[in-house]
Amino acid sequence: MSTTLSVIGSTGLIGLEFLNSIGEGEYQEVTAITRRQIPSLSEKPFIKQSIHNFDDLESMRNDLKSEVLICTLGTTIKTAGSQERFIEVDLDIPLALAKMAREEGCNTFILVSSIGADAHASIFYSRVKGQLEEALKAIGFPRLHILQPSMLLGDRQESRPGEFIGKLIMQPLSFLIPWKYKPIHASILAAKIRELISSEETGSRTWSGKELFHIN
Ligand SMILES: NC(=O)c1ccc[n+]([C@@H]2O[C@H](COP(=O)([O-])OP(=O)(O)OC[C@H]3O[C@@H](n4cnc5c(N)ncnc54)[C@H](OP(=O)(O)O)[C@@H]3O)[C@@H](O)[C@H]2O)c1
Repeated sequence: MSTTLSVIGSTGLIGLEFLNSIGEGEYQEVTAITRRQIPSLSEKPFIKQSIHNFDDLESMRNDLKSEVLICTLGTTIKTAGSQERFIEVDLDIPLALAKMAREEGCNTFILVSSIGADAHASIFYSRVKGQLEEALKAIGFPRLHILQPSMLLGDRQESRPGEFIGKLIMQPLSFLIPWKYKPIHASILAAKIRELISSEETGSRTWSGKELFHIN
């Protein structure tokens, strides 16, 4: 496919799952924007690893000259250390990079957001996620896909005890859980991202619940 892609959040559960799923020649150019080397991608030299200091977002401009920008970047409030730092990672950085990408001609933005994202939510996490969604809609990408998954499943390097316990309880009972709240495996989201890259649908679209599990 003659599409050029850039990914921010390349080392994370979803970003890496997506990058690992790409075969040589599938896309014209793939750039993983990251703050550290990704050893597991060393066998995929066709994926350019572009290492940056995230305190200097402008340095990424050249790597944002892609048709499609995929954002799987994010942190937790615990890891971030403060609400201010969380806002920086989950709102300010993706928004600044999205604006830069649009200036450079990027037509499609795919965001992995979260269930419950709502700019007016009383829960801080959901509110920040929602604020990013609203701000992205205002940028005017010809194609904006927002994915709102529930709990993510997959092999995560970082230990997250809360998530682990949640998975233990939720996975066996998954069939009882309404689609909107069902945990979703990283491989399914990666497949959905791949589907959306080739989608010709224009405008802004939010994907949640069963739609996320349905891959064309
Ligand atoms: N976990 C869940 O169950 C869940 C559920 C719904 C939605 N989500 C959302 O879905 C998205 C993808 O989740 P995920 O689990 O794949 O994320 P993840 O594994 O936590 O990966 C996050 C990515 O963001 C990068 N990042 C974090 N802080 C950064 C910073 N200060 N500067 C630069 N990069 C930074 C990480 O880079 P480094 O590796 O360099 O730190 C990593 O590439 C996130 O926005 C998350 O909030 C998660």
